[in-house]
Amino acid sequence: MNGNLKLAVQKKGRLTEKSLELLKLCGLEIENYSERLVVSIRNFPLDILFLRDDDIPEYVQDGVADIGIVGENVILEKQAKIQIREKLGFGKCSLILAHPNDKGLKDIKDLNGKTIATSYPKILRNFLEKNMLDAKLIELSGSVEIAPSLGIADFICDIVSTGNTLMMNKLKRSFKVFDSEAVLISSDKDFTDTNKNVILNDILKRIRSVLTARYSRYLMMNIPKDSLEKVVKLIPALKSPTVLHLADENLLAVHAVIPSKTYWDIIDDLKAAGASGILLLPIENLIQ
Ligand code: PRP
Ligand code: ZN
Repeated sequence: MNGNLKLAVQKKGRLTEKSLELLKLCGLEIENYSERLVVSIRNFPLDILFLRDDDIPEYVQDGVADIGIVGENVILEKQAKIQIREKLGFGKCSLILAHPNDKGLKDIKDLNGKTIATSYPKILRNFLEKNMLDAKLIELSGSVEIAPSLGIADFICDIVSTGNTLMMNKLKRSFKVFDSEAVLISSDKDFTDTNKNVILNDILKRIRSVLTARYSRYLMMNIPKDSLEKVVKLIPALKSPTVLHLADENLLAVHAVIPSKTYWDIIDDLKAAGASGILLLPIENLIQ
């Protein structure tokens, strides 16, 4: 035991690369991790454990790992005693019901008496009960998509993200059961080692700053001096915008950090107010 905080990350799958990218943006220097199960961070008291995503909630619950990055879909299915510390905004996907192209599923009641293959029996059973439906479940740990073509199920209930897997298997999405994204979890009990709390709070602070930056942009533009009031009202800045004088005294430069999704809503109004040379830049890190 080296006193490091142990973080579980998916070994190989949809969340692996994005999880590591987030940690790198947090300033963590990750050693070459290929094929290794445990990797230490050179400049931070953290060890990364690479595990099957399905095992992560239980390992975090039992303290094998202190924290983990995993999809909400897996957490809900495993019903482990853990707490979600932060939503991470990537790995977005939905658990859906899907049907073969040549076999429709328009009315939810069409599920009655049918066979559904899934890796998410608990979530699906719950969904069926809520909708007062009765279907037979076939539990598979992977490759659920091929069950209808093998003739072992009428429908499937599985994760869809880009939709490529469904398309390749001649399946179409139908009803949605659950929306999911990657989250950072810890056990629902406090750490006995207080130092681990300090490390967790440090990593959470870094993650939050990366996420705020990810959803923000640095907006720069020049405006006619007499449009200042109008322009400032238009900008949904996180803080009051910065206003700078230019060599041309009829103009001002205005800089502001804005939520990135608002840019396209204000751009036409900014131009109408006389703004020119509008620049929108990414931000790597943002502490508020
Ligand atoms: C899911 C699902 C599909 C794939 C769908 O697996 O089982 O295989 O993602 O993605 P797509 O719509 O982009 O093609 P998941 O990554 O959750 O991992 P698993 O291997 O643990 O089931
Ligand atoms: Zn899995």
